[in-house]
Amino acid sequence: MKGIILAGGSGTRLYPLTLVTSKQLLPVYNKPMIYYPLSTLMLAHIKEVLIISTPEDTPRIERLLGDGSKLGMKLSYAVQEKPEGLAQAFLIGKDFIGDEPCAMILGDNIFYGNGLGAKLGEAKRTAEAGRATVFGYYVEDPERFGIMDFEQKEHQGGYCYRVRSVEEKPQHPKSNYAIVGLYFYPSGVAGMAQKVRPSARGELEITSLNEMYLENGILDAQLLGRGFTWMDAGTFDSLRKAANFVCMIEQYQGMSISAPEEIAYRYHWITKEQLAESAERYGKSPYGEHLRAVLENKIVI
Ligand code: TTP
Repeated sequence: MKGIILAGGSGTRLYPLTLVTSKQLLPVYNKPMIYYPLSTLMLAHIKEVLIISTPEDTPRIERLLGDGSKLGMKLSYAVQEKPEGLAQAFLIGKDFIGDEPCAMILGDNIFYGNGLGAKLGEAKRTAEAGRATVFGYYVEDPERFGIMDFEQKEHQGGYCYRVRSVEEKPQHPKSNYAIVGLYFYPSGVAGMAQKVRPSARGELEITSLNEMYLENGILDAQLLGRGFTWMDAGTFDSLRKAANFVCMIEQYQGMSISAPEEIAYRYHWITKEQLAESAERYGKSPYGEHLRAVLENKIVI
């Protein structure tokens, strides 16, 4: 299974912060924003990731994350010349994806919650079995989001959710579950994306792609209910809230969240020596201290 982080865009809602740098490199509390979506893909056990950004920002992101060897991963990079829509990621990533299933996460989306790994694992297995998955997050103001309606189906002795409809900013929402910026698709997604036509605003919409899977009867949903937090950090208010949230979790629990090196170490993708090297790289920062605590086995989870 492959993964894509779509980390381009113009970030106009964060001007002047994003006039000369990428939104995805801005801090969310104590680490760059892109560490969060990268961690999410890692929690899905995805080791091969393509990072797509703007012509100016792609080299900067590459300088930060490198080829992924420090994480036991394979990271590659591609440029999106213009922000022409989320579904374009699969056209840009066509060769990278090959004939594998592929997940995509938006570079400004942050997911947190106990049990997230299990939900991601389920979505991955579903994609490998030929079905797509979107994630629904409970919101109080569904009129502002892409909303899905769904039904519960029995599945292998348990339950799963099948999407019944997808609506952009509906006036009369059929549910309170917004579709968030994380999608899992089965093999063949680049071919499907090729069929997406630009919308009235000139973008290749992810909603159009999801509708194709819906029409084919192969669109499932995972629900992120109580106990999960999802944020997109694309406005000043949400960026501040995301930073406050991460700060609060880390201070209450006394440990960092979304530290890619820690995940890589716990998954045995890197050795103790490699983790020690990374800890050195982060110096005396709290992030470096956290990696040292992991190294010394002070944090057992
Ligand atoms: P948005 O927040 O919708 O767009 P943006 O980042 O350009 O910001 P603004 O609205 O303030 O101008 O994008 C969501 C995420 O998807 C964000 O991480 C950027 C990314 N993105 C791309 O990389 N390419 C695209 O073509 C689009 C539409 C978004």
